[in-house]
Order: sequence, then structure tokens, then C-alpha cells
Amino acid sequence: MTVNMPDGYAIAEFETLDSTNKQAYRLAQMGEFGPMLIFTKNQSHGKGRNGRVWLSSNDTLTATILISSKAPKENVAQLAFVMAIAAHKTVCEFADADKHQHIGLKWPNDILVQGRKLAGILIESFTIKDNADSVLAIGIGMNIDNIPSDGDFSASALSQLCTNSELDKPIKIETILSSLVQNFATYFDLWAEGKNFASIRKIWLANAIGLGGKITARLPNQSIYGVFERLDEDGILILRDEAGEIHQITAGDIFIGHI
Ligand code: BTN
Repeated sequence: MTVNMPDGYAIAEFETLDSTNKQAYRLAQMGEFGPMLIFTKNQSHGKGRNGRVWLSSNDTLTATILISSKAPKENVAQLAFVMAIAAHKTVCEFADADKHQHIGLKWPNDILVQGRKLAGILIESFTIKDNADSVLAIGIGMNIDNIPSDGDFSASALSQLCTNSELDKPIKIETILSSLVQNFATYFDLWAEGKNFASIRKIWLANAIGLGGKITARLPNQSIYGVFERLDEDGILILRDEAGEIHQITAGDIFIGHI
């Protein structure tokens, strides 16, 4: 089975790679600006957010969409939300209907199932000589039939959500990728270089975990505990701490409750 690609999207599949995001960077330096799906079933040095590593096996979906955008630079981080809602839709397409209520999005772009991480997204932006557009690698790792152990987050896998006998077992990574890249392309167009982030935000909020509840934001130099008040119009998390002070969280890790 091959991956069904949306119009205008290319695919580059590799037997092995250190990291699909690193490969996106190398291709971009050689003049490839996408849209292109970069995919391998054997990723040896996956990069996670905030300097972590992403562990994967043959049963993990590891892919990156290399894409360029003329959007204002301050808008391009919103593409992490675009990928997050695309991945959420894909997971729901494969998961049993009675499991959908357990699948949610944790700011900024983790897909969780009952508090356990099913997929993570790493977005990186590259500077390319003589190119004013933003060139981006939007990488996703999704556990399909494996549950890696990670120091910070407990994990889950898509196969745990699929007991539907009509689905082929094991679920083929190419089948999931076809859905994912299709959903990404749809939401990328909807995003309209940030002019319509409101629509992306609305879908994200409909599936958000922790909104209105107590969370801990772990930032590089401190942790802040408080209430996840809202997501602002640009995707920034607004946190009210116990003293009532408002914090605008633009990067970091979120934990539900106190840690
Ligand atoms: C996270 O920390 O949650 C983000 C994990 C992102 C992992 C994916 S796997 C495919 C792509 N290539 C990488 O090196 N990282 C991303």
C-alpha cells in the first residue's frame, strides 16, 4: 500500500533516517521547500520538543511535512495547531466511536488518550538563504502499536483504541499517513496563512484537555501552577496563578494538575 497524497504534495520515503525533521532541514538546504511528506519506518534519532528524544520502533508513525509559507513570521507557530487537529481527526477516524471522548489535545500540540500521550508534534522553522518565505518542518510521531516508556509522560497507542473487527489488523502506517496528510492539507488551506486561525482555534478548543482546570506550566526556569483560563486569539495559553497574576505561556510543557 502506498500513501495517498493530496494534490500538490510530494512524498519522500526513506528506508532509514536519523530524523525526518533533520532530513527536512537537509532537503530544504538543497532547495526543496515542499509541500512534501518525509517518511521512514526506521528513525534512529528522533527529536522531541524541548531537547528531548523521541523513541520509536517499526510500530511508530514518524513523519514530517516540509512546507513553506508566506504567512507573517509570528503566525507560523500556529501550524502546530493545524497539525494537532489534523492528527486528532485521523485518530478519531481509526478509533472506535466509543473511545472518541477519551482522545484530546493538550496545549500546544500533544494528542492524549486518557492522559497518556499518543502523539507529539515538533515544528521547526529554517532560515534559507535568499528565501524570504518561512520554510518549516512539521514532524509528528504517533504510537501505532507500541507503547514507549518516556521519563515525563506515560504513553498510549492507536491500536488500543481500535477493537473494530472491520479494520485490518495490524493497522498499516501508510493508511494512517494517507489520512493524516489529507487532513493536514485540508486544515492548512483552512488556516489561510493565519488569516483564518480562528477556525483552527475553534476546532482545537472543541477538543482541548485541561481548559478551565488546574495545570502546571513547566517553563525553562520555573514552574507555574494555576488555572488554564483560555487560549488567546494567537494560540497563547493564558494562565492565572494562585496569586491571581496572569501569565502568557508561549512555550513549555503543560501538566494537568500539580506536579
Ligand atoms: C514531542 O516531544 O512531543 C514531539 C515529538 C515529535 C517526534 C517526531 S517523530 C517524526 C519527527 N522527526 C523527529 O525527529 N521528530 C518528529
